[in-house]
Amino acid sequence: MLLEGKTALITGAGRGIGRAIALAFAEQGCDIAAVARTASELDETAAQVRGLGRRIISLTCDISEPDHVAGMARAAAKFLGKIDLLVNNAGYACFKPFMELTLEEWRRTLDVNLTGAFLVTRAVLPDMIARRAGHIINISSVSGLRPIMNQSVYCASKHGINGLTATLAMELKPHNIRVNAICPGGVSTRLSEEAMPGRDKSDWMTPEDVAHTALYLASMSARATTDIIYLRRFGSVPLGG
Ligand SMILES: NC(=O)c1ccc[n+]([C@@H]2O[C@H](COP(=O)([O-])OP(=O)(O)OC[C@H]3O[C@@H](n4cnc5c(N)ncnc54)[C@H](OP(=O)(O)O)[C@@H]3O)[C@@H](O)[C@H]2O)c1
Repeated sequence: MLLEGKTALITGAGRGIGRAIALAFAEQGCDIAAVARTASELDETAAQVRGLGRRIISLTCDISEPDHVAGMARAAAKFLGKIDLLVNNAGYACFKPFMELTLEEWRRTLDVNLTGAFLVTRAVLPDMIARRAGHIINISSVSGLRPIMNQSVYCASKHGINGLTATLAMELKPHNIRVNAICPGGVSTRLSEEAMPGRDKSDWMTPEDVAHTALYLASMSARATTDIIYLRRFGSVPLGG
């Protein structure tokens, strides 16, 4: 198994891409701390992970709330013993023309997508630094690589995550901690359905497609790494095309 004896804290693991990553990692021998706000969805993820024979703790937490995050990270570390992998996946999307965005929508997007990743990473890092081991995978988006109409704040948040990813990769290399990001195009989930209702998603990727890439990153040779993986629908055009 590719992740035998490893542990992972995954945010947004109640459904969609986060749940698929939890299951893909668990299938390869990894124990999980699953984070989201909705307990019933975490319960379902937990049942599926236990069905694969792995240990899991469900932690209800709003990652944009500093007090929630501190307690959540302590509980995760206590249950898992150590955190080898952090997947910053929880996200929020609000797609509309810039002038129609409210300040609340602007703040919510940055609070979850950017500040949430900051808070969780800061909570988990001290132990990784002390152990000189760890791997952080950020789930960004194609919206972090290029402009997309009506996605100004989402693009801003995902460009921010890519900047954070690259800078942290430099800062944390001396501590033997690797940091990379996946930038998926369209994936069929609740987030994309709510942000783009009615759009034909018949050839969109599945959460499992992204999970497969996360597993690839998590199981890379210790001698090799990468920075950002742009994962796109087979039917879409290449970057710059
Ligand atoms: N779907 C796509 O097309 C697509 C493409 C590129 C990138 N992405 C990125 O992929 C990631 C996962 O999205 P998804 O499509 O899988 O969406 P999803 O199915 O809606 O799942 C989002 C997860 O994040 C959790 N979450 C949201 N806000 C949270 C908060 N404040 N605190 C803790 N957990 C929170 C949700 O649970 P609760 O609501 O219970 O908290 C849920 O478990 C996001 O970062 C998204 O930007 C998605």
